[in-house]
Amino acid sequence: MDCISGSFTPIADILAGQHEGKPVQIRGWVHRARSSGSLAFLVLRDASGILQCAIKKDAAGEKAFEAAKSAYIESSCMLAGIPKKDERAPGGWELAASQFEFIHQGQPFPISKDQSTEFLLDVRHLWLRSQKLSKLMKLRHAALRSLHQFFDERGFFELAPPIITKSACEGGSTLFELNYFGSPAYLSQSGQMYAEVFMTALEKVYVLAPSFRAEPSRTVRHLAEYWHLEPEMAFYNQKMNMQLQEDMIVQTCHDLGKNQAELLESVERDPKKLLAVKGPFPRLSYEKAIEKCQALDCKIEFGQDLGADEEAVLTKDAAQPIFIHNHLKEFKAFYMREDPNQLGTVLSADLLAPEGHGEIIGGSERIWQADELKARMAEQNLPMKDYQWYLDLREYGSVPHAGFGLGIERLCKWMFGLDHIRDAIPFPRTINRVYP
Ligand code: 4AD
Ligand code: MG
Repeated sequence: MDCISGSFTPIADILAGQHEGKPVQIRGWVHRARSSGSLAFLVLRDASGILQCAIKKDAAGEKAFEAAKSAYIESSCMLAGIPKKDERAPGGWELAASQFEFIHQGQPFPISKDQSTEFLLDVRHLWLRSQKLSKLMKLRHAALRSLHQFFDERGFFELAPPIITKSACEGGSTLFELNYFGSPAYLSQSGQMYAEVFMTALEKVYVLAPSFRAEPSRTVRHLAEYWHLEPEMAFYNQKMNMQLQEDMIVQTCHDLGKNQAELLESVERDPKKLLAVKGPFPRLSYEKAIEKCQALDCKIEFGQDLGADEEAVLTKDAAQPIFIHNHLKEFKAFYMREDPNQLGTVLSADLLAPEGHGEIIGGSERIWQADELKARMAEQNLPMKDYQWYLDLREYGSVPHAGFGLGIERLCKWMFGLDHIRDAIPFPRTINRVYP
């Protein structure tokens, strides 16, 4: 057998019953191993699934049998044999092997059962092969594909924003600074301001890129590096902006609930929860949200921004995501347009996911007139010279526009029913971890 040029069957095809009684070759990694007497059982894993393989001394020969017996968890190998139905095997199929060969026997695998979360994070580069993380990464892929499709169907263009920038989008306190050939620059907190540039060229655009937040928070929903999907639309007001978010969330949830039901169930997430998501999502003004929190015994005062605790209280028993809109101007970002019908508040909306997961989207209508933007920047003491290019957008054919930012891992945490955001991304970057 040659692991590159040979003809190999994906395990999923065998589990689907496509090769009953016919000889196949498979290749992959040892997921589980045990042996007794003249029989070795290996559960082999490839990208598509796991299959139990029985290697009998008399069928496969002494040499192959001895090799199979010496396999470690995660040894890479190839087998040939015949798939047979077997109720007792995982997935209902077993390969009666006639050949076994190592690709690489390797060393005893350092991960066994019941290891601490910290240890598993130390060996994340090996733990990503686990069934749980593999399934979550497949689901993440499906979620991103669905989002891309949503925007493609609506005529949006995806453009690439820079990651290294001079301009803080979300306030100075969470910037990662770097030495850019001798002068300070920052890792992007948000691609929004660049999405606003793209909007002036292509009207309906989105960026999908990593955002960085030097947030010293040790929570189940903060990453220092996360993936951020940020659409920006010319000639959109806040109402249209919120409708687009709602449509996006409903379509993505339904797509996954319908087309990834088996994977969702395998990570113990009920697809029905996603299929039940439907608009219109409840909408609550910031003022009403504070009243509701206070009625539910949260210690929050009017004038303070909602935090994780308040969001959890507001969404714990909710079946649908909730919009919180019209936040106070004083604690929201400088680019949000003041609501002409409710001065002191901005045309903002945060979308909170149900079941206590909290904020997954932050969005707003943008200030599109130069004077208003300059005045707000002055109020917030922003260094005008670093933002001159952004101000320029309001000097040459400015148009009303709106947009939002969706945290991909926050969305995945909710959709996949995760307790912690770290398993929504292969290598979570948190306050106490940048290795591996
Ligand atoms: O609410 P935020 O800070 O809004 C912005 O950055 C806007 N510029 C977006 C825009 O209008 N284009 O962040 C948007 C979303 C949050 O709702 C959350 O889902 C996610 O980004 N997010 C984080 N995800 C993981 N870890 C963190 N530390 C996050 N901070 C924000
Ligand atoms: Mg926010």
